Amino acid sequence: MMGHFRIIVLSLVIMASIQVLGSAEGHKTAVPAIFVFGDGMLDVGNNNYLPSDAPQADYPYYGIDFPGSEPTGRFSNGYNMADFIATIPFKYQVKNFNDTVSQMEANLGHQKLSKLLAKSLFLISIGNMDLSVNIWRVLRYSRKPSPFNIPNTLSSYKAIIMQLYGLGARKFGIINIQPLGCQPWVRQNLENNVNCNDSMNSLAREFNDGLKPLFSNLSSQLSGLSYSIADFYAFSNATFMNPRAYGFVNIKSTCCIPPCTPEHEPPCQNRKQYWFWDLSYTTERAAKLAASAFYDGPARFTAPVNFKRLIKMK
Ligand SMILES: *[C@@H]1O[C@H](CO)[C@@H](O)[C@H](O)[C@H]1NC(C)=O
Ligand SMILES: *[C@@H]1O[C@H](CO)[C@@H](O)[C@H](O)[C@H]1NC(C)=O
Ligand SMILES: *[C@@H]1O[C@H](CO)[C@@H](O)[C@H](O)[C@H]1NC(C)=O
Ligand SMILES: *[C@@H]1O[C@H](CO)[C@@H](O)[C@H](O)[C@H]1NC(C)=O
Repeated sequence: MMGHFRIIVLSLVIMASIQVLGSAEGHKTAVPAIFVFGDGMLDVGNNNYLPSDAPQADYPYYGIDFPGSEPTGRFSNGYNMADFIATIPFKYQVKNFNDTVSQMEANLGHQKLSKLLAKSLFLISIGNMDLSVNIWRVLRYSRKPSPFNIPNTLSSYKAIIMQLYGLGARKFGIINIQPLGCQPWVRQNLENNVNCNDSMNSLAREFNDGLKPLFSNLSSQLSGLSYSIADFYAFSNATFMNPRAYGFVNIKSTCCIPPCTPEHEPPCQNRKQYWFWDLSYTTERAAKLAASAFYDGPARFTAPVNFKRLIKMK
């Protein structure tokens, strides 16, 4: 329901797509493992470590699909999973990862492990949660904004990257945050249900604008660190500005009306033409398009390099 869950699914589909895109090139992917840290919600101890002879496509979230006969699909399950994982704050993810690293070190030895980690891709998206949850609380419950601000969120981001670097991570794929004010749950609160909430979008932009200097500083301070910032905001906006060019007929409302279960109204038939699956998750197709744009799409969606280049960097 809230915006922050969505990015998890996006990350996972991106991950799946990178694997697929990588293997489709007819040679082994250059990346031995992909670790996903999504909005403080992914359990990196279990599901997110792919062994060194990747690519693998048997990750439980691969192939999220919505065949007409199974309208609940993965996303309902996704809610439970996200709910469950959302109990794990980000700092514990780093801790879990640290534990995983210790185990791997015991198995592989220090040098092999360092090599493996340095070549691995760390796919990260945080910020959606802090921003969306806080805004949502204010809107729904008229709560005062919690002590949240963008500089603080950015400096936690920085601290997390430095910790992961300390543990051996070198390549970071960063997905910035979406136009928060264009999610259906936000639009449906607006009078005409047509426009986006500009103040929410400008929060998202402010946060995203902070990521670039943050990472360029980090890469000048931490030797061997490389990164790609994927502009999910710009990609979403490009689609919103010209939906038909991307094959969408609806970028505003949800395909599946909550609670989105078989006892209720079935989801839209033309799911491939919808950007939003429900009030804030994207459809699989939207996520796949974003993933391929970030992997090796037009330069305007990634900076300073795309994920493909990042993965191949020494
Ligand atoms: C990882 O664990 C080691 C001990 O096993 C500890 O010294 C180190 O501070 C931990 N690092 C992080 C980032 O949690
Ligand atoms: C847009 O979102 C903000 C919260 O950031 C809220 O205060 C404002 O009322 C919303 N605007 C509209 C038109 O709903
Ligand atoms: C980047 O580094 C410069 C110079 O060291 C500093 O002035 C600036 O505040 C830093 N910016 C960020 C976002 O860390
Ligand atoms: C999307 O981009 C256009 C410029 O191409 C801009 O005018 C518009 O405000 C952007 N929309 C959002 C939601 O940022």
